[in-house]
Amino acid sequence: MPPRESELDADSPWVHPTADVAASAGIGRGTRIWHHAHVREGAVVGDECILGKDVYIDRHVTIGARCKLQNGATVYHGFRLGDGVFLGPRVLLLNDKRPRAINVDGSLKVDADWQLEQGLVHRGASIGAGTIVLGGVCVGEYAMVGAGSVVTKDVPAHGLVYGNPARLRGFVCRCGSTLRLENTLGQAAHMCCPDCGAAIDIPLETFAQCRTPSNR
Ligand SMILES: CC(C)(COP(=O)(O)OP(=O)(O)OC[C@H]1O[C@@H](n2cnc3c(N)ncnc32)[C@H](O)[C@@H]1OP(=O)(O)O)[C@@H](O)C(=O)NCCC(=O)NCCS
Ligand SMILES: [Zn+2]
Repeated sequence: MPPRESELDADSPWVHPTADVAASAGIGRGTRIWHHAHVREGAVVGDECILGKDVYIDRHVTIGARCKLQNGATVYHGFRLGDGVFLGPRVLLLNDKRPRAINVDGSLKVDADWQLEQGLVHRGASIGAGTIVLGGVCVGEYAMVGAGSVVTKDVPAHGLVYGNPARLRGFVCRCGSTLRLENTLGQAAHMCCPDCGAAIDIPLETFAQCRTPSNR
């Protein structure tokens, strides 16, 4: 039986009996780990995270505080997650752009033969369901990636991207709403959130990369 809120101990993690958490993994206070999740050796999961059913956290992956990883999300070795990151169901964060099972001599590849890439999902970013992020990609702070995307390039802070390959389509607020352009005076696009009223500046160079309906 899952715990009731009142039964949770804010000072220690809660791990479902079917989850497999390596002894050398570090799990933060108040973090909940659900059915059949697997957290590998040396991984570090911050405080107050939720790891849904079937989540897989590879060796030495670091995850910040208050992250929410939905069912079946997979984070491979080489990726790092900041605080407050959301991964939708079945998101895959990869680590090897040109994978091979064997070396040129036909021998099975071991860890030392692997070309590891370092990927990063910054604080507050969200990645929609079923999305694949290639190794070495950096997803900026509070960016939002649409469901079913394939992310092949870095995503700027507050960027809204989707599609295969994912393209920059707009910018989002910390609250998740799409930002509205106020003006482009000076070096930045000054944007405003229609829902919470936040004002957010996007560098003009970044703003110019956005694919509006007229320049897709
Ligand atoms: C990307 C997203 C945030 C865009 O939302 P939005 O700004 O309201 O976009 P709209 O619904 O107005 O769609 C705008 C256009 O983009 C297209 N579009 C929207 N999301 C898309 C996606 N994920 N992939 C491809 N195209 C998408 C729409 O079809 C529409 O196309 P059109 O202009 O040709 O008609 C949202 O669609 C999304 O994918 N959210 C992630 C949901 C998720 O995974 N949640 C996990 C919780 S379980
Ligand atoms: Zn807002």
